[in-house]
Amino acid sequence: MKIGETHYRTIWLGEDGWSVEVIDQTLLPHVFEIMRLTTVAAAASAISTMVVRGAPLIGATAAYGMALAAREDASDQALEQAYATLLATRPTAVNLAWALDDMRARLLAVRPDQRLNLAYARAAEVCDDDVATCQAIGRHGSVLIRDAHERKGGADVVNVLTHCNAGWLATVDWGTALAPIYTAHDAGIPVHVWVDETRPRNQGAALTAYELGSHGVPHTVIVDNAGGHLMQHGMVDLCITGTDRTTAHGDVCNKIGTYLKALAAHDNGVPFYVGLPHSTIDWTLGDGVAGIPIEQRDGAEVSHIHGIGEDGQAATVRLVPAGAPVGNYAFDVTPARLVTGLITERGVCPASREGLLGLYPEKAANAA
Ligand code: MRU
Repeated sequence: MKIGETHYRTIWLGEDGWSVEVIDQTLLPHVFEIMRLTTVAAAASAISTMVVRGAPLIGATAAYGMALAAREDASDQALEQAYATLLATRPTAVNLAWALDDMRARLLAVRPDQRLNLAYARAAEVCDDDVATCQAIGRHGSVLIRDAHERKGGADVVNVLTHCNAGWLATVDWGTALAPIYTAHDAGIPVHVWVDETRPRNQGAALTAYELGSHGVPHTVIVDNAGGHLMQHGMVDLCITGTDRTTAHGDVCNKIGTYLKALAAHDNGVPFYVGLPHSTIDWTLGDGVAGIPIEQRDGAEVSHIHGIGEDGQAATVRLVPAGAPVGNYAFDVTPARLVTGLITERGVCPASREGLLGLYPEKAANAA
């Protein structure tokens, strides 16, 4: 997507042809800065500190992390160590394990002297696949927005509510939840997005608002608790979120607070859709509530908030009494029964085992 006149992906190779460059998302929307990653340790740190974040981008960064590892030492032992280091960065998004398993299997299958070129080539493929996948999610999901527009008589704006950031910054390009919105907007369908601020890290207020604003998509940032009120008053036509892990039975794990939005949507008859690439489906799991590991992060993300003062200086302030205990649960699980449909690169399906296997029949033998 474009920033100003320049087209960016969220991850690319530096001019030297081997270092990996990413946008430092901890500084957005106030500062646009590129970070150069040169070691597997730097790639791991970029994931855990959320310089890069969003399930598909975490996977893509891990793939390039394995390439950086192969550059340092392409032995079996070194690659196993790199795999373990990268896997330990964040527990919830299954794209991380998906990318690492894929890289490890391919690299260990060839001689050490063949691994470096293969690693870079495969990491590039993972990125290109993500772009094509997200574009296809955009095509399929935009039909839902067009249908909502037609249901409203073709005159009114379609109001979509989204939570967290599942836009191009969370993927390599386009996004998952936001791809349908970009596609519909570009096709001339009037769309307005309610952007949940998404405490504690505020990915909605900082990143989704930044993306939508840069692309010219009308939007309004709201506090996380506003969605239910808006739905009760007919101000939301559909919800679309992303996901960090979707089980084979259609349970959806996404940023904390997604479940509450799905409950409110269910209560108000508002369709609740989830956009996801194939790499976000965990075919080994059925029950998401019981089976998906939920990341718990540093309490400082809850007790403190980052921003920029009127003087233009970045600032961090504490919100809670000094020493107050805080909990920082980063994700929650929305049961499949609350999800109207899953928007994948292969089409839209019911959030169920049958629905997913209808689109991915080749997974039938291994699906939970
Ligand atoms: O903690 P984050 O910012 O990595 O969480 C991101 C989300 O929850 C996204 O909605 C999800 O990864 C889908 S991204 C296309």
